[in-house]
Order: sequence, then structure tokens, then C-alpha cells
Amino acid sequence: MIFRQLFEPVSGTYTYLLGCPETGQALLIDPVVNAIERDLRTLQELGLRLAWTVDTHIHADHITSALELKKRAGSRIAAPAPDRLPCADASLEESMPLQVGSVSIRGLHTPGHTDGHFAYLLADRVFTGDALLIDGCGRTDFQNGDSATLYRSVMQKLFTLPDETLVYPGHDYTGRHVSSVAQEKARNPRLGAGRTLEEFQRIMASLGLPYPKFIDYAAPGNRQCGACPHELPQELQKYCGEMAQSPQG
Ligand SMILES: [Fe+2]
Repeated sequence: MIFRQLFEPVSGTYTYLLGCPETGQALLIDPVVNAIERDLRTLQELGLRLAWTVDTHIHADHITSALELKKRAGSRIAAPAPDRLPCADASLEESMPLQVGSVSIRGLHTPGHTDGHFAYLLADRVFTGDALLIDGCGRTDFQNGDSATLYRSVMQKLFTLPDETLVYPGHDYTGRHVSSVAQEKARNPRLGAGRTLEEFQRIMASLGLPYPKFIDYAAPGNRQCGACPHELPQELQKYCGEMAQSPQG
């Protein structure tokens, strides 16, 4: 398998490129619209044709490039079925494989950060989106998030994977790339080392995080599989990159 972990610095998002060397087909997990040129160039350099894009959830901190990649690269859009996106070409039910040549991922419904959130499992790797980050997790105070639900998702769906499973998160803000189920179980300060549900709920309730500055644009844009809004305040135009200059529908 061809594998690349690609970082988008404006939102601190990791995009994952999975490619099949035999068929030359590729899949992108969580592509970001302002990094679209980088992603298209990377695919071209690797001699891969983008077959599918898939998002872990309706993001609030960046806009997916799923729709733009469909227009420019001819890829199809897969999304978690609970998100009920009319713009998706395929709605993934839990455990339903998404196949690109010899590469196959399976969704794990891991609600709590958002209600429709999926992690994706690929052999000994799991792409955890915002359900589980290295030494952390996504916030649970927007988008039908719920801390008790996230606790159960992590304990029942992610921490039950084999210890050696590699954890590839949806974000990291301090330059870390990969962890493992064993590492997160042992030392994640929110969810590891035997944290109880009550402790986790207390931690999540006392984070005191600011209102997400891009959510009012990103969430509706992502419900359209990645539409940049027509009128974006100057300070937010970096989230749409070149798309901000040529507004999309
Ligand atoms: Fe998120």
C-alpha cells in the first residue's frame, strides 16, 4: 500500500492518502479544501488516480475538498450514513468496506464528538478522526456532541482494538504523527489510565474552550460535501484558500 500522512496547518488537520500500487487507485480520508492543490500534486507525483474521498465527520474547523475533488479529479464521495448527506455518492454503514483496489477500510461508528462520526479501520491502523487524538480527544459541546457517548465510543470501539493498532488522529497541534491503542489506553490524560466516565465528563465540562471560530461556515459547507461560502470575512478566507477568490455554490 502507498501511504501518506499530509498536514494542513491552518486547521491542524491530517489528511490520509491510501493508494493501491496494483490498480493505481487512491482514497483520501479528510481532505481539506485549502490544501487541494497539494493533494492533487501528491496524487500526480505518485501516479495515482483518486477514486474516493471519505470524511470522518461533519467538520467544524475546516471545509472538506470532497466536492471540489469530485469536480477536478473525478473522485466519488463517501460519507458516514448517519450524516445523511444527499451530496454523497455512497453512505457508509458501520463495517461496510470501502474498497480501492487492494486497499479496504471499514467504518466504526464512534459518536460523541459529533453524532455521525466514523473512525476507519485498515488492518493494523485506525484513523480516529476527532474521536481520539494523541493524548486528547475532540470537543463534545457542539454538533450533537456528548461526552458520555464519546467515552463509550472510545472504550467500546477503539480501546477494544489490538494494543498494537496504530492510531492516526484527525488533528495534532504539536507535531505528533501517530500513536497506538496501547499508548492511548496507558496515558491519554482524558480517557486513558482507567479514567472513569464521571472523571471524563468532568474534564470535558471544564475545558472552557472558546466558540469555534469557523463553525458557522464550515458545518453548513460540509453538509454540502465542501462548499466554500460566498461571503467570508477577510480573516477567515485562509480556510478556503484559492476557493475564497472564486466563490463556489
Ligand atoms: Fe471535528
